[in-house]
Formats: sequence, C-alpha cells, structure tokens
Amino acid sequence: MPEPASAQDPESLSLLLEEHRRTFQACYGPEGSPRTFFSPGRVNLFGGHLDYSGGPVMPTAIDRGTFIAARKRSDRRIRIASTIDPRGLEIDLDRLPDTRVGRWVDYPLGVVIDVVVRARGLGRAGTLFGLDILFGGNLPIGAGLSSSASICVGTAFTLDRIWELGLGAEERVRSALRAERGFVGVQCGIMDPFAVGYARPGHLLWLQCRDETFEHLPLDFSRVSILIADSGVQRELAKGAFNERVDQCRRAFEILSPHAPQASVLADVPSEVVEAHVAELPGPIALRARHVASEVARTFEAREALLAGDLSRMGACMYATHESLRDLYECSCEELDLLVEAASESEGALGSRLTGAGFGGCTVILTARGREQEVANHVVERFEQRYGRRIAVEAFGGDDGPRELTLS
Ligand code: GLA
Repeated sequence: MPEPASAQDPESLSLLLEEHRRTFQACYGPEGSPRTFFSPGRVNLFGGHLDYSGGPVMPTAIDRGTFIAARKRSDRRIRIASTIDPRGLEIDLDRLPDTRVGRWVDYPLGVVIDVVVRARGLGRAGTLFGLDILFGGNLPIGAGLSSSASICVGTAFTLDRIWELGLGAEERVRSALRAERGFVGVQCGIMDPFAVGYARPGHLLWLQCRDETFEHLPLDFSRVSILIADSGVQRELAKGAFNERVDQCRRAFEILSPHAPQASVLADVPSEVVEAHVAELPGPIALRARHVASEVARTFEAREALLAGDLSRMGACMYATHESLRDLYECSCEELDLLVEAASESEGALGSRLTGAGFGGCTVILTARGREQEVANHVVERFEQRYGRRIAVEAFGGDDGPRELTLS
C-alpha cells in the first residue's frame, strides 16, 4: 500500500533539524552538539470527544511535530526553553517543583517530574544528570493537532533515551498522560498520547478507549489525502470549556448508568436508553449524551466503511460528526463551520469535520487523491471572502512516531 503523500521530505526535515541545532547553540552556547528528537502531532478523523467517555476513536499521527534538542550538563540542573519562548525555566533534579508555572513549559516540566519519579522507583535517581533542552517544531500550537501530546510523549522519549531508562513505549505514553492530567490539569482522554506514541504511517489507529486496546487499520493513501485547514482561531477558553465537557459527560453517566447496568462507561450506554431517560438529564447534559451515543455508532460505521474501502461513506460520517459536535457538543465556532461547509461544496472533498477539542483550531478534510489543490483553493477562497484573511490548507503525511534524528 502506498505511503501517504508527505509534505515533509527528508531534505526539508534535515534543514529544520540543522536550524534547530543552530538555535540550540545560540540559546545555550556552542560547546558540544545536542542530540535531537522528533515527536509527531496527530489528527483525529473519527470519534470526536469520545475518548474520555470510553468510546472508540480513529486518529493518525502526522508528519509535523516537535523538535527536541537536548545536551548533557555536568550538574543536576534542567533548563527548558523553546524557539518561541527562550526565557523558559530552570529547575534542580533534586528539588522538583510541585506547582505549575502557568505557561507552555508546564507540559514538559510535568513529564520531567514524572520521569524522575519513575527513575527513583527504578533505583536510578543517582545516575540522572542535568540537561539543556530546546523545544521547537513545525506544528501549529493550540490548533487541535495535539501539540501537547507531541511535546509530552516527545519529552518522555527524549529523557528515556538520554538517561537510558529503558521505559518503553507504553510507559512513555503513560508518563505523558499523567503529566497532562495531573500536573497541567487538563482532564484529557487517552487518544492523543496513544496516537503519537503508537504511530504507524499509512494507518489509522483504531483505539477502544474503554479498555485501551488498539490496532492499526490501513487507509489507502493512493485514493485519499488528509488536508488540514487551520482557521487561525485561538482556542483561548478551550481548557475550561474542555474540562466542563468532561464533567458533563461524567454527570450524564452517573444519571444514566442505573438504567444501563451493563455499561461501564458513557460510551456503552445505548441510544435507546439515552432517549428513554433524556428528561432526567439537565439541558446541556442531554445534548452531550446524545452526541456520545450517536458518535459511537458513527465511529463503528466509519470503521466498517474503512474496511470496505467505501470512502464516500467514511466522508459522510465526518460531515455528520461535525454537525453533532456543532449542535449537540457545542464545541465548534463560526469559522470552523464555514470551513466544513466550504469543503462540502467542493467535489474533491469526501468529508470534513473539526478536529481535536474544537472551539477554534483546525478542520480535517478527507480528499480524493489528485484533487487536493482544487479543494484547498476553494476552501481558502471561501474563507477569505468571508473573513478577509488567507488561511493555510495543506496536505499532511503520516509519521513513524517519536525517534532520534540524525543529519543525513
Ligand atoms: C483533545 C483531547 C483529547 C480528545 C479531543 C476531542 O484533543 O486532548 O483527549 O478528547 O480533544 O476528541
């Protein structure tokens, strides 16, 4: 099966890598080259806002992500900076902070703390050494492409390799999750770190969040491309609104579970049960429960369509998901709705929906192979007519997951 078209050829990757190393040396001094790691972002195609309700999801890693350059220090201090926030942070491995800073740096910091605690558990605390670390990359931040899981899984990978802890993929994914949920305080589901940590190009990850089982399902990239349209709308309220959705789903399950004794998570509660007891669910909670029940059915339908090679049915599921996220989950915005509408007007587009948490960020457009330009042009023009600015609509390829990069 052909690999997905990658917008990131090895040459441009090498250029980015070299530039990242130069920035590292400008930031921390020229002595000694850092080791550099890459960790992808992800795009979710099916199963919107189902992971923390225990439902199925189908994301895939993308060939944009985070570059992490790290160099050993002779003491036990860790310095963390990024290409867009060079002021960063400095901590001591023997006096780990226990409060958030309130900036992006909380994500890698949460992972550093978690990995050090694991290392202590392995009796390895004494062998750890200080590091200078620089983050950068080519993934839009806060755009629904999971820059946070890219950073967190990438940080766990970098520390695991550099400190030679032998944690392995599962422990790195868990560490990323604990950092984001515990230290940063976003009640996120398991989808993002799994999509990043278990990436396989040319495949979607079929992940059942209830029991965390997964398999890789091939997507025929000789027939489709994945386009991402970035609305440029920042998701400022996203963390609060996201956690609110998580709480509402928790509440929905508390109310519905006595009526569905077999259900261990909200995603297990059948539509008929939701409808029969909808009057017991306060306003927005009824809407959220309806979304979850219908989205579970749609995600299974999308899986069937994928296995049958029925691309137009997959696309129809995406449009239906967007409507449900817009009307029942209330996590879309005007700009995202326009992007999906514009895609639906273009014949080369098979399906489209907001991706990630929503409230701004990106839409994903499943596009017939060879028609990417026509779809992108139409969407860019329609957005410009309405909002007076040109946005980026690009084809993203797949990715192998976190790894160390070497200059070719
Ligand atoms: C964010 C969260 C994920 C998932 C999506 C919505 O990306 O981090 O866990 O809930 O939103 O599908």
